[in-house]
Amino acid sequence: RTVYVNGQYLPEDEAKVSIFDRGFLMADGVYEVTSVIGGKLVDFDGHATRLERSLSELDMGQPLTKDELLEVHRELVRLNEIDEGGVYLQITRGAPADRDFVFPPADTPQTVVLFTQSKPGLSAATPKPISVISIEDQRWGRRDIKTVQLLYPSLGKMMAKAAGADDAWMVEDGFVTEGTSNNAYIVKGRKIITRHLGNEILHGITRAAVLRFAREAQMEVEERNFTIDEAKEADEAFITSATMFVTPVVAIDGEQIGNGEGGGIAARLREIYIEESR
Ligand code: PDD
Repeated sequence: RTVYVNGQYLPEDEAKVSIFDRGFLMADGVYEVTSVIGGKLVDFDGHATRLERSLSELDMGQPLTKDELLEVHRELVRLNEIDEGGVYLQITRGAPADRDFVFPPADTPQTVVLFTQSKPGLSAATPKPISVISIEDQRWGRRDIKTVQLLYPSLGKMMAKAAGADDAWMVEDGFVTEGTSNNAYIVKGRKIITRHLGNEILHGITRAAVLRFAREAQMEVEERNFTIDEAKEADEAFITSATMFVTPVVAIDGEQIGNGEGGGIAARLREIYIEESR
């Protein structure tokens, strides 16, 4: 693979960052994942806009303009011949001379890393549905910032695997926040229910697009809290993310949802989303 590090395109085994990088020492960095369908970036502008917000919320600079970032994304997709997959982007506060809790001077060069991931078949019409378990949400309070502090989500995923499931839905004060790396939805009757935006969840770019398409298709959408008990009684459940698009959830804590095969609303939304992304 050819990757991008601080202005250079390099073979992946020649790319290097400092051991003093604050991304490495303190998870002091933000990231984005933009999917690629048919060689085309999906919702690049949404990801670039959220990145700007993540950087500014953490008082980090914007080392590349949106246009420059788009150029690097396109170049990596071209160099690595990505048809289906994604581009991972990470920006950290850079590498000061030593480890220190205090931020380094503002003119410390930030670290910018991008690489591609090839995932043939990503945009299949019928994905494998997933099962989830519920776990307590023990992440920090600013989940609206897309930081690289992913240890708890990673532990959550391992808890799910240990329980024979695919993923975990996290619960705070009795209400579902989101999946470990995706937004969570239920369907009751024909109404789509998903948690309202706030600091408690990531404002998914796929979420925004899917809710827009749902409303355009005259589907009813309600942005509100829901509990695991309500989810278990739902007619359908699904998740959205740049890497999973719309994927049905067919079991929660071992209880089957709907017919256990994924529902019609999730299938229709996935179809629209992929159509619109081509
Ligand atoms: N994760 N919620 C969380 C906690 C996430 O990490 C993600 C994305 C989402 C969905 O956001 P979007 O639709 O913008 O991808 C929601 C990425 C894909 C990841 O960590 O790989």
